Amino acid sequence: MGVNSVYKKWLAITALLASTTIAKPTPRSTIPIIRKEWRTLTNPEKSSYINAVKCIMSLPSITPPLDPSHTGVLTRYDDLVYTHILQTMSIHYVGHFLAWHRYFTATYEQMLRNECSYSGAQPYWDWTLDAADLTSSPVFDPVTGFGGNGPFVATVPGPFEVPGRTGGGCVVDGPWAGINDVVHLGPGDSYTYNPQCLKRDLSPYFAGRYLGMNQTLLTLAEEDFGWFNTRVEGFPSFEASGVHGGGHYGVGGTLGQMGDLFVSPADPIFHLHHANLDRLWWSWQKLDLANRLVDISGPLLLMDYSMGNSSLSTPLSAGPSAVNLTVGDVMDIEACGTVGTCYTYDSLYTL
Ligand SMILES: *[C@@H]1O[C@H](CO)[C@@H](O)[C@H](O)[C@H]1NC(C)=O
Ligand SMILES: *[C@@H]1O[C@H](CO)[C@@H](O)[C@H](O)[C@H]1NC(C)=O
Ligand SMILES: *[C@@H]1O[C@H](CO)[C@@H](O)[C@H](O)[C@H]1NC(C)=O
Repeated sequence: MGVNSVYKKWLAITALLASTTIAKPTPRSTIPIIRKEWRTLTNPEKSSYINAVKCIMSLPSITPPLDPSHTGVLTRYDDLVYTHILQTMSIHYVGHFLAWHRYFTATYEQMLRNECSYSGAQPYWDWTLDAADLTSSPVFDPVTGFGGNGPFVATVPGPFEVPGRTGGGCVVDGPWAGINDVVHLGPGDSYTYNPQCLKRDLSPYFAGRYLGMNQTLLTLAEEDFGWFNTRVEGFPSFEASGVHGGGHYGVGGTLGQMGDLFVSPADPIFHLHHANLDRLWWSWQKLDLANRLVDISGPLLLMDYSMGNSSLSTPLSAGPSAVNLTVGDVMDIEACGTVGTCYTYDSLYTL
């Protein structure tokens, strides 16, 4: 064997070793990380979370450029907003609504940790603590939170006017005040580049009506998954909402991103709200864990009860940011397997 071929062999082995090292996945934790309520974080913990959100908003998108018209997908943050927009009609008012959003927020949590050096877990917003006085919620704190309401902007009264809305303009304080291109996508299902400020349109009335402990306990008391899920989502009417709509319309009203079915993840509060919906589902599962780790039903497509039910094998996709899973893979948040979720909550709702 000539020197040259020995050298080539050595190069090949080195390359193989190098690629093995690079391809080795980050070791997955087998101990669930613990999600805590926003107001119980210390100020340094709050600021490290908000810095991680700003970081993920500054990293470049990884969405493959298959569709040249998706010019609004610029950042890693946009990757998730875009994923939500594309799947809106198949992830709301369906049986896998909670499972899909569980995976979506867990994907975001992993992005913050793996790509932005965040060392905590995704915080949740326990809105039952604020339902009686929404505007004073610590999540809207201008210094330690996500900023508050926008100035009042009148809308044409009609079916889309969220009762009790008080804002609608760009946020005037907090980390995203004074920035005109926080949001790149929407409104609605539009994904061509459209720079917008972050808007909030708080409705203390709506939050009071649907985010209190009374509504939460009514939901928790449902006896099977189908009815539990229906209670969480409510119906698409401001007169028959649930805790899900309570958070979206309580914060986003008519004009804020949180009130937009498609582009709602553009407001970082989305993930604190959905973490708490997930906590409510886990609270419900824990009341009868053996049965409720496998209890899943409800339409496969938006409110279409004729097409069959979601099941443990219904696929879930969080887009290019994570591998595809099934509903069954996320039923146990503490499973910590080779795929799926690995987190838990510091406290749960009880009946
Ligand atoms: C919960 O309390 C709020 C505020 O008093 C009220 O508007 C709402 O109708 C109540 N919900 C239920 C389900 O009782
Ligand atoms: C979906 O599941 C529900 C509850 O288990 C059941 O009553 C219903 O018949 C199922 N629907 C279809 C279309 O299979
Ligand atoms: C994941 O699922 C989505 C939606 O069904 C699909 O478009 C995508 O190609 C899948 N990705 C992989 C890697 O299989």
